Amino acid sequence: MSELITVGLGTRAYDIHVGTGMLARAGALLKPLLSKNGGKAIVPVVTDSHVADLHLAPLMDVLRQSGIEARAIVMAPGEVSKSFAGLERLSGALLDMEIDRKGLVIALGGGVIGDLTGFAAGVLKRGVAFAQIPTTLLAQVDSSVGGKTAINAAQGKNLIGMFHQPRIVIADTALLKTLPKRELLAGYAEVVKYGAMGDELFFEWLEVHGAAALAGDEAANVRAVAHSCRMKADIVARDERETGDRALLNLGHTFGHALEAATGFSDRLIHGEAVAIGMALAFQLSVKLGLCPGQDAQRFTRHLKAIGLPCTISDIAGARPSAGELIRHMAHDKKVADGKLTFILLRGLGQAFVTSDVPLEAVKEVLAA
Ligand SMILES: NC(=O)c1ccc[n+]([C@@H]2O[C@H](COP(=O)([O-])OP(=O)(O)OC[C@H]3O[C@@H](n4cnc5c(N)ncnc54)[C@H](O)[C@@H]3O)[C@@H](O)[C@H]2O)c1
Ligand SMILES: [Zn+2]
Repeated sequence: MSELITVGLGTRAYDIHVGTGMLARAGALLKPLLSKNGGKAIVPVVTDSHVADLHLAPLMDVLRQSGIEARAIVMAPGEVSKSFAGLERLSGALLDMEIDRKGLVIALGGGVIGDLTGFAAGVLKRGVAFAQIPTTLLAQVDSSVGGKTAINAAQGKNLIGMFHQPRIVIADTALLKTLPKRELLAGYAEVVKYGAMGDELFFEWLEVHGAAALAGDEAANVRAVAHSCRMKADIVARDERETGDRALLNLGHTFGHALEAATGFSDRLIHGEAVAIGMALAFQLSVKLGLCPGQDAQRFTRHLKAIGLPCTISDIAGARPSAGELIRHMAHDKKVADGKLTFILLRGLGQAFVTSDVPLEAVKEVLAA
């Protein structure tokens, strides 16, 4: 059971292979990229210690069987590695392996490893190719596709980064079986995002099959991941550098980032959970502004609840962040143009659009409700 999606970016086009057990094919899929790149060099596999314990050995075996000599670089798990210190450690390790400009670096992990490795590869010797083997649902449906790479700065997340497209994405949905339930659900928020943003039929499919996908139904998983990747690939092919449509992928993220900031980027609220609440708030704001039927907003929230995702600010544990505090965080967010807040709003399920024409008062009311 597998699906193939191509990201149509001309000379930088690449394939996304989604399937159960796809890791077993990694050697065969990566080999052609290596021989084109001159051959015999050792291939670095960058991962974190959680993923290394669970999924590194099978990948190394598969690579060895294909005659690829690989060596692992194991980073600390978590956002802490997406830092200048993490970049220094990783690029030092890559240079020690004497990787040259014809080399290929493999990222095996979640969005943290993918973002860090992509960035390190992008700046190493002015640009080395890299491959994504995403191991979280979030990484499979979102961060591994589209070429955004970054590390964090003291001033904020993802502020030091570049566009650097991978040469291939290999998404094995079987790897998701070891993912903690909370991480899986958080990744699912990004899956729902694709339906809410641009595909009502996909949303409808998720209402029926989403629970099965989350429970480990392989066919449902492959379909959900592949469809999400296809939607992201289409948008990225149209608007690689986010001058237009790509911004639609930020549905729920203006609110979501403010909620993450207000809860200190802590365990109280992880990214996907913040996005889930953020999307529900975007629906409410759209209804309040008379843009979206209330029924669509209710239907959206009903699905989040059914699946076990939070959908209101009061679902967050601990002290409730105030509307004022959240607005202050939004004003600091990167999506501020000319002092106006930019939002992705909805005309209905599957009909997101970008606007910077939102009265602050309405935003406050939604945040205080
Ligand atoms: N580049 C982009 O377009 C883009 C898009 C969205 C998010 N991001 C970035 O992605 C990052 C978040 O990614 P994430 O949610 O994957 O977090 P993550 O990489 O930190 O992974 C979450 C946790 O799951 C563990 N893990 C990973 N795979 C596992 C598996 N198969 N089984 C068990 N445990 C596993 C990790 O070790 C980690 O502890 C953020 O830094 C965010 O900024 C980037
Ligand atoms: Zn996100």
